[in-house]
Amino acid sequence: MKFRSFDKYTSITKENVPYLRQLAADVSQSPYRPKAHICPPCGLLNDPNGLCWYEGYYHVFYQWYPFGPSHGMKHWAHVKSRDFADWEWCDQILIPSEPYEKNGCYSGNAFVNPKDGNCYLYYTANYKTGTGRVPKQAAAIMTPQGSIRKYEGNPVIDGAPEGISGDIRDPFVFEQDGCYYMLLGGSGLDGKGRLLLYSSQDLLDWSYNGCIRIILDGKETGLGTMVECPGYIRVDGQDVLFLSLIGLAPKGDRYHNQFTSLALIGELDIPNMEFKACWEDEADCGFDFYAPQPFYGKDGSPMVLGWFGCGEQHLPEDSYHWRHALTLPRKLHIREERLYMTPAPEAIRAFGAPASHSETPVSRTEAPISSTEPVPPGPFIQPAPLSCLQWSFENDKRIHTLSIGGPMDYWTLTIDMSDRTVTWDRSNIKLLPVPAYGTVRRCSFTQCSHMDIDIFMDNSFVEIYIQNGERVLSGRIYL
Ligand code: FRU
Repeated sequence: MKFRSFDKYTSITKENVPYLRQLAADVSQSPYRPKAHICPPCGLLNDPNGLCWYEGYYHVFYQWYPFGPSHGMKHWAHVKSRDFADWEWCDQILIPSEPYEKNGCYSGNAFVNPKDGNCYLYYTANYKTGTGRVPKQAAAIMTPQGSIRKYEGNPVIDGAPEGISGDIRDPFVFEQDGCYYMLLGGSGLDGKGRLLLYSSQDLLDWSYNGCIRIILDGKETGLGTMVECPGYIRVDGQDVLFLSLIGLAPKGDRYHNQFTSLALIGELDIPNMEFKACWEDEADCGFDFYAPQPFYGKDGSPMVLGWFGCGEQHLPEDSYHWRHALTLPRKLHIREERLYMTPAPEAIRAFGAPASHSETPVSRTEAPISSTEPVPPGPFIQPAPLSCLQWSFENDKRIHTLSIGGPMDYWTLTIDMSDRTVTWDRSNIKLLPVPAYGTVRRCSFTQCSHMDIDIFMDNSFVEIYIQNGERVLSGRIYL
C-alpha cells in the first residue's frame, strides 16, 4: 500500500478512517506480532488506560497514535473481553476533538460509580503552549449501554497548584471511606517528582489536598524528576502503589531502563498525606516495561496490566507501521511482605500445554567464568512462536542456564542458586532492540528449596515469571 505521512497532531476523522483500515489490514500481515498480548491494529500503543470490569466485560483502553509507529496525537483505543482471551475492538474510543485537548487524550483510569451505574473515564487533556503545557484533567462517561461522551464541564481540573510545574498528568481515581480521591503525577518547580492528591464528593468537582510523601525506612524517598501514571490498589489487606518515574539513575541491578516503574507495599495515610512503605522494588525487572495500571478483576481480585515497552524506543516492527503491546494481565498477591504477579489463567490458555525444560547445572567452581557473567550457551531450544516453557529444579546451590535460539542468534537465562540471582542476557540476539540501555538484566530472589520458572513466548514478546511471580521480567526478543 502507499503509506501517507500525517502531521504529529492529527486526530482520527471520517476522512482518514479508510486509510487506517487499509493500514491495519497491511499491519496484520507483518512479522513480530503477538497473538495473546493486546497490540494496536496499526500505529503506536503505549500506556494501558481505563481498565475495569464493567457490565460483563473487561474494558481495556490504551494510549494510541494510529497513523504510524511514533508518539503523536494520543487517542484512547478500546478493546473488551469477557475472559481475557478473546478481545473485541470497540469503536467507542476517545478521539481528541475539543479545544482543551488539542494535543491529545493522555493517560488515566476508570472508576465505576455505584451511585449512577456509569463508568467514569479520567484522562489528561494534553494542552501545549509555546512555552510548555497547561495541565488539564478531563472526564468522559461510559454508560452501561456502551456509549461514551465527554463531560460537558471539562476540564474537571484546570491549571497547576502552587509550586508544581505544568506537567501534571495521568489521573487515577479511587474511593476510600466514602470520599473520592484522584492521584496525579507531576513535577515540582524544583525539578523533583511529585505525587499529587485531589479529592471530591461527586467525582466531578475536585479540590487539591497537596502532595503525598513516600516514606520508606523512616525517610522520605525521592521520586526522580517526574512522576507518571500513579496507581493505587488494595492487595491482601494492604495498600499497593505503582509509580512510574522519569529520572532515576541506575543503582546496582536496578533502574537500567530509560524510565522505571516501582511497586510499593504499605499504608496510604491520607490525613497525614503519606504513603508509609514497608517494601519497594521495580515492578518488573525486564527490559521493556512501563506505566502499569492496577485494577480490580471480575471477582474483585487485584490485577495489573503494563505497557510492554518503555520510553522512546525504536523497534524492528517500526518498518511495518506499528509498535508495542500490553503485557499479559497479571494477578497481584502479597506473600511475606513482597508483591507477587502471576499471569491471569484465562490469558495464558492460548499458549497451550507448557513444555518442560531440563538441563545439567554447573557448580560455581566448574563454571568457566565468574557466575556474575553468563555461562556459555547451549544446548539450544527453539520454541514455537506461541509457547510456554516450564523450568523447575531443586535448590542444589548450582548454576542453571537456559539458551533459546540457535548458536548465532540466542538469549540466555541464568539462575545462580547459590547467590540467588537471575540474569537475562539478550546480547547475542542479532536484531537487538534498544542496546542503549544495556543488554543484560539481573535481579535476586528469596531463599527457596525449589525453583519454578514459567516463560511465556508470544512471538517477539517474552514474559518470565520467577518463583510463581516473585519476580517478573518482560522483554522483546526478535529471533
Ligand atoms: C507515560 C506517558 C504518560 C502520558 C502518556 C502519553 O508513558 O508519558 O505520562 O499520559 O504516556 O502518551
